[in-house]
Amino acid sequence: MKSLYPLLCVVVLASCGGPAQKQYGIDARVDSVLNLMTLEEKIGQLNLPSAGQFTTGAAENSDIAKKIENGQVGGLFNIKRVAAIREMQQIAVEKSRLKIPLIFGMDVIHGYESVFPIPLGLSCSWDMELVERSARIAATEASADGINWTFSPMLDLSRDPRWGRISEGNGEDTYLSSQIAKAMVKGYQGDDLSANNTIMSCVKHFALYGAAEAGRDYNTTDMSRQRMYNEYFPPYKAAVDAGAGSFMASFNEIDGIPATANKWLLTDVLRKEWGFNGFVVSDYTGVSEMIAHGIGDLQTVSARAVDAGLDMDMVSEGLLNTLKKSVEEGKITEKQITEACRRVLKAKFQLGLFDDPYRYCNEERAKAEVFTAANRAEARKAATESFVLLKNEGNILPLKKAGTIAVIGPLANNRENMTGTWSVAARFSESVSVMEGLTKAVGNSAKLVYARGSNLHEDAAIEERATMFGKSLNRDKRSAEEMRSEAVRVARSADVIVAVIGEGAEMSGEASSVTNLELPQTQRELLKALLQTGKPVVVVLFTGRPLVLKWENENLPAMLNVWFGGSEAGDAIADVLFGDVNPSGKLSTTFPQNVGQVPLYYAHKNTGRPLRGPWFQKFQSNYIDVSNDPVYPFGYGLSYTSFIYGDVKLDKSSITPAETLTVSVDVTNTGKYDGAEVVQLYVRDWVGSVTRPVKELKGFKKVMIKAGETKTVTFQLTKEDLSFYNYDLKWVAEPGEFSVLVGGNSSDVKEAKFTLE
Ligand code: NOJ
Repeated sequence: MKSLYPLLCVVVLASCGGPAQKQYGIDARVDSVLNLMTLEEKIGQLNLPSAGQFTTGAAENSDIAKKIENGQVGGLFNIKRVAAIREMQQIAVEKSRLKIPLIFGMDVIHGYESVFPIPLGLSCSWDMELVERSARIAATEASADGINWTFSPMLDLSRDPRWGRISEGNGEDTYLSSQIAKAMVKGYQGDDLSANNTIMSCVKHFALYGAAEAGRDYNTTDMSRQRMYNEYFPPYKAAVDAGAGSFMASFNEIDGIPATANKWLLTDVLRKEWGFNGFVVSDYTGVSEMIAHGIGDLQTVSARAVDAGLDMDMVSEGLLNTLKKSVEEGKITEKQITEACRRVLKAKFQLGLFDDPYRYCNEERAKAEVFTAANRAEARKAATESFVLLKNEGNILPLKKAGTIAVIGPLANNRENMTGTWSVAARFSESVSVMEGLTKAVGNSAKLVYARGSNLHEDAAIEERATMFGKSLNRDKRSAEEMRSEAVRVARSADVIVAVIGEGAEMSGEASSVTNLELPQTQRELLKALLQTGKPVVVVLFTGRPLVLKWENENLPAMLNVWFGGSEAGDAIADVLFGDVNPSGKLSTTFPQNVGQVPLYYAHKNTGRPLRGPWFQKFQSNYIDVSNDPVYPFGYGLSYTSFIYGDVKLDKSSITPAETLTVSVDVTNTGKYDGAEVVQLYVRDWVGSVTRPVKELKGFKKVMIKAGETKTVTFQLTKEDLSFYNYDLKWVAEPGEFSVLVGGNSSDVKEAKFTLE
């Protein structure tokens, strides 16, 4: 292997390992490579084309292969499998002049082949060990298959369910998302980035992408710095603090400048204020899209991007094709390009690619470590923890494994849609469908009968748009009436109906924004017909976003929201429906009553005219037609058991900034099942130099409590938890009165007060 590097081994010394490695730090090693490079070669390192997928052997004659050979490529993505990756790497390290290895990226978003729940679902587990483990497993599988860089975690806070990409994030809350940021980065990167089973994370999309106007993807964002710093920025910053190796600039503009060329964002905030020292890549054609944004031609936008602090160009090739000219014309300096190149090379050193460019190319590992029974078992467990029990009137759930169960709905008998959006490495046709999961679970103890009941959507054109990327639901040609009457006939023969409905996998995700948050009419009609049979109806709801479930909540006795649970979804759904696992997920986003309430989120400001007392009140902040309440608040989720909260106890009524406040509360499991409860702690700062939210999550603990048992749950609050960015964007805790609010969701809390001196 080392013989591939005669030149580098002489000059770089340390990159060949051995005692020199200890003697020379990465920076010196990067410098020694930079010293060998021409301007063109430096620019080449900033280029990230999409590989497409080559069949082995075909790569050599491709355009990309020629570019790699010419030193015009820094890395590749959209390429899968060790053989294909090895082939590309070989061209780089054997045929290019400087033999600099490529970095290989992929959207490993919620698992690799063992697919975990979509991020929005996983965030509802509120289980940070689980989140970290999911990223660890994803990294192990991806790195075994040749990948060393993932475009994850996605940390765009979103309070707009119309935005399809809300499914890829962690919901509406700053604190929860920040905890998840840390867990994900740690899971991917581990303690040693150069280990062959860890991969570099790429935090995206920096920044504010989740606040796109009208929930329409790629749209403008515009918000105050107050809101950026206090609400939207902290998750990204948490990822920097956790050591994330790279960032991706977002598509949207901020303050009139696209993020990809926004110097304030990429340099002043990210690097100078937060101390980020990794590299920044654009999003897919993010550089050339700035032409359409209207800030210049390709040369101008490319120079502006590098000047702003962008280091790598995904797909546009604007940097590759124009930077040299910009240097010659004095629009940017070679030094700026050297700095960008330095950051890209540094990442490659950190990943150990200079020591062994094939570090992640081990066919044996690929065979042994991907889609293993153990990883799939973890994915199944994670899925059960992500499910949120929305309603369970008369304790219909858990179901008995007895009698006849009718399984009905467009998503009941489908494998391809189980993994949800952004699961590019998944083996779609090997996921466990709901029907399969339930069939295995009941064995011979119960009889299952099935009918499709409806198509996904009454409008075939919408269904087509919603089932792109190989996740077709094979639209049924029969009329809606025919399908419904078959379903009713089947349902009548059963003791209980499980209606498996909701969104298809690609109804959320990128470029899947909607203006209507209700279930498609044809599915609603199906539910009505099933209800008319008089049999108990349990809804298993697939969705990648908060939906408007007002009618469903009023009319259906039981609803389990399963998001998109991943490759093992069907088994996990069976685990929870039959009570082998007691659901414990809690919503990380608010579910509104209608789309007109959006954005609706718990940590809102009070206004000067808050609604005090019941809706409606003239000249107070409310609507004539609908109350301000959600259908389900942030933090909400039921269990098969019930929990009662005691009073909130504080160890002091007043603390100095140097002191810690201990908060404790007794939580009793008053039901018949053992269960896990997510105990949530919110804080309210009553008077500030700027207005403060009515409550903000500042702590949570997921505790297992046996039936009949009481557990005392304690939290420690410090000055940090009471701090915020003031008008001058200084991080301060201001003296005064605070409330601590503890409960099982954001609406149902008990309160105690204290003073910060
Ligand atoms: C575009 C998406 O916005 C981004 O999230 C993704 O990582 C890139 N494409 C690469 O696939």
